[in-house]
Amino acid sequence: MSISLSPDPAAPARPPDDTEGLSVWPSSALPTTDGDVTVGGVSLAGTADRFGTPVYILDEDEVRDRCRAYRAAFPDADVVYAAKAFLCRAVAHWVMEEGLGLDVCSAGELALAVTTGFPPERIVMHGNAKSPEDLLTAVRVGVGRIVVDSTSEIARLAAIVPPGTRQQIMVRVVPGIAAGGHTKVRTGTDDQKFGLSIADGSAQHAIAKILGQPHLELVGLHCHIGSQIATVKPYVATVRRMVGLMARIRDQHGLALPQLDIGGGHAIAYRPGEDSLDLAALAERVLAELEDGCARARLPVPRLTIEPGRAVIGTAGVAVYRVLAVKRTGERIFVAVDGGMSDNPRPALYGVRYAPRLIGRCSASESRPVTVVGRHCEAGDVLADGVPLPGDVRPGDLLAIPAAGAYHLSMASGYNLVGRPPVIAAVRGNARVLVRRESLEDISRRDIGL
Ligand code: LLP
Repeated sequence: MSISLSPDPAAPARPPDDTEGLSVWPSSALPTTDGDVTVGGVSLAGTADRFGTPVYILDEDEVRDRCRAYRAAFPDADVVYAAKAFLCRAVAHWVMEEGLGLDVCSAGELALAVTTGFPPERIVMHGNAKSPEDLLTAVRVGVGRIVVDSTSEIARLAAIVPPGTRQQIMVRVVPGIAAGGHTKVRTGTDDQKFGLSIADGSAQHAIAKILGQPHLELVGLHCHIGSQIATVKPYVATVRRMVGLMARIRDQHGLALPQLDIGGGHAIAYRPGEDSLDLAALAERVLAELEDGCARARLPVPRLTIEPGRAVIGTAGVAVYRVLAVKRTGERIFVAVDGGMSDNPRPALYGVRYAPRLIGRCSASESRPVTVVGRHCEAGDVLADGVPLPGDVRPGDLLAIPAAGAYHLSMASGYNLVGRPPVIAAVRGNARVLVRRESLEDISRRDIGL
């Protein structure tokens, strides 16, 4: 489906100092004189009216621009999009066209990608606990690399590689670097479930075991230290540790590994004023450390892989909700919308807060702090706390939440059986449905009886 909703020609250009509060929105976002915002030339209020709410709008050009920015910053590296941030057929297609690889962590993500035409050799398969189906599907479709995350996986994988062939693999190691926006997304130290520790020797043990497997070809090391990392320093330290381990592997086994994957985790800003990771600085410092470290260790420089997810798709997404109720209790004003933790579990999981904006009409009312809550049956279903909204905000209004492209719908649940929202692509004034709304019929069809 495709509709054309052109931006209001009277819309003023966005001022550079973010007086419009759009700094965390897609770069195409423009406020209009009638209180709306266009994204990719498409009216958000018009999209909400046409497709219903809640609705997610994805700016296709923003995703493609981010892919290009990564490829320009890392021209000699493999840039692999982390599908867990958000995957649908169109996104797989855009990322493929922009020349990126794909990080998948289930047979489901893998099947969606390859049936959309994504080249399997550009796919990396992850997972701390891969099911037999995950591993079989990966080997059967011929993914480029499988990242081994536990010792027991080695024999399981070796046993399913067809005779006469070899599967390229990497080993996920824990470099012992603490970084990341929340304890639940810190994966660089030994106190969490991912990877094999360098400190206790389990990474080295797994590597020795893999080298004894004729059907497995160890092509490199992998690590992913965490998510929402806004500074370059932890990545530089990680590269130093990884190169150190590569040197020890060379000394012990006479093998110079040709690849190094340092994962993703690059921070974006969710609210104006928050830091995002500086991509140019990341490229400069990481590549310098890799070259210097390898020269010091007399290692050939391995081919680098990076795996950004959120930083590719996060700012491209905007969620639009309709206000269902406004309630004053004691000192607080609650503005309740028609979505919430079932389409965005991030506030409940990590305590993050968003910056909603009234769209679709102009208000002359003075702003006052409100708490924007979802419709779900939990007091913790809070999308934004103490955020300024016009004093006359009322049922029927539309609220838009920027930076909604990553880890919202990919982590959406069926809580309260409200159905998951659709995803609409916005590009050059056209809106088209990428993923349709989950209907009550979809939900009831799975429930097959008493
Ligand atoms: N590579 C690996 C192996 C990963 O596990 C992840 C994310 C990435 C790359 C991409 O990380 P990104 O660049 O998107 O930060 N649900 C959490 C984030 C969980 C990240 C899981 N792994 C959130 O909403 O913040």
